[in-house]
Amino acid sequence: MHRIPRDRTLDSTIALMGDPYRFISNRCRRYRSDLFETRLLLRKTICMTGPEAARLFYDPSRFVRRGAMPKAVQKTLLGVGGVQGLDDEAHRQRKQMFMSLMTPERIEQLVQLTAAEWEIRAHGWTAMGEVSLYPELHSLLTRAACAWAGVPLADSEVDARTREIAALFDHAGSVGLRHFWSRWARKRADGWAADIVEQIRGGRIHPPEQSAAHVIAWHRDLNGELLTPQIAAVELINVIRPTVAVSVYMVFVAHALHAHPKVREMLQAGDDGYVGRFVQEVRRYYPFFPAVAARTRQAFEWNGYHFLAGRRVLLDLYGTNQDPRTWERPEDFEPERFRRSDESPFDFIPQGGGDHHVDHRCPGEWIAIELMKQAADFLTRRMSYDVPEQDLRIEWSRLPALPHSRFVISNVRM
Ligand code: HEM
Repeated sequence: MHRIPRDRTLDSTIALMGDPYRFISNRCRRYRSDLFETRLLLRKTICMTGPEAARLFYDPSRFVRRGAMPKAVQKTLLGVGGVQGLDDEAHRQRKQMFMSLMTPERIEQLVQLTAAEWEIRAHGWTAMGEVSLYPELHSLLTRAACAWAGVPLADSEVDARTREIAALFDHAGSVGLRHFWSRWARKRADGWAADIVEQIRGGRIHPPEQSAAHVIAWHRDLNGELLTPQIAAVELINVIRPTVAVSVYMVFVAHALHAHPKVREMLQAGDDGYVGRFVQEVRRYYPFFPAVAARTRQAFEWNGYHFLAGRRVLLDLYGTNQDPRTWERPEDFEPERFRRSDESPFDFIPQGGGDHHVDHRCPGEWIAIELMKQAADFLTRRMSYDVPEQDLRIEWSRLPALPHSRFVISNVRM
């Protein structure tokens, strides 16, 4: 039996916050191991990296999600009572609700709504001197996501709702005032979405039958009951918030285009296969979601290591996408590496791994991919722009990581 390497510091929370994307892989390299144990928020936690660890992490006989997420994450990013914390049959039933929204036709509808918003917005940018892409994309995507989800949104509401939704993912991982703003935004957003659910149930508004708002408002859980308005609200926000968060990936699309002029030229040729490989490489190369958390269901042995029951475990997503055992020269941006035909659900995991229906893997992967392809199309073929002098270095200690300047463009032409 091997001993799981232990991090020597009393508690590693500050080290994790200082470098959230590389915390696990750096230490694994130091300990020459795919896993090590430390304390995070004073709780013993096993951190793991790599495809083999991912395969273990997504074995539902070994891990549960209930009680795995720190309260601070539930009170901001995720909300309380949503699909992320469910296990077994209850999870499968709730997950099916999300998967039913992800048909090719429904995704195409979102792409069209988003294209219309890009058109309007990009024309507006032609009359502006400089445009900061990240905040502009927040409101563009809030409008598209709400229209798609069947959530009414008056023009006068757009700015306030956009700020609240963005605060859920943009400020959740920070400390101090920004974190409290995220908690307050969670209360506002949940209240807003619960009110929409009650209006639907009361017959006061009638979103289309296939829309997220309708599906979630009328979804029945294992016991045949409707979700409480609070939980239905969390699930509705679970659709809108991450769609707006695709703005992070879109900024990285712009960043990659700027950093790799050859890639931009290839994209301008409009080869759909290449656009797909480019988007996958952006999701592999750039940092977004650092890690996911679970708890051991019971004690077990794996590769000669003993895992105690109820232990919190973190799986390194970013580091697994950079693992040199899977990726040749992982530090290079190289879309052509996605010509590979040996894909596994455990070695490329920017949005989680395993099976979308059974495991907790993100149901929104196809949405993220399609919206990123569309962003690449707009930024290379439908508009042109200059990139003024700015600080484009990635801010690694931020969650989510972003270029310091958030990506500013100028002199936009259509
Ligand atoms: C913006 C890009 C996105 C990233 C980086 C991302 C990332 C993730 C990650 C890492 C997970 C957790 C996987 C796990 O626990 O094993 C997750 C779960 C989830 N995502 Fe996404 N996601 C994105 C977009 C979306 C979109 C567009 C939607 C819906 C429209 C969505 C809805 C969800 C839901 C509902 C879950 C929980 C699934 C479950 O617990 O079974 N995400 N996502």
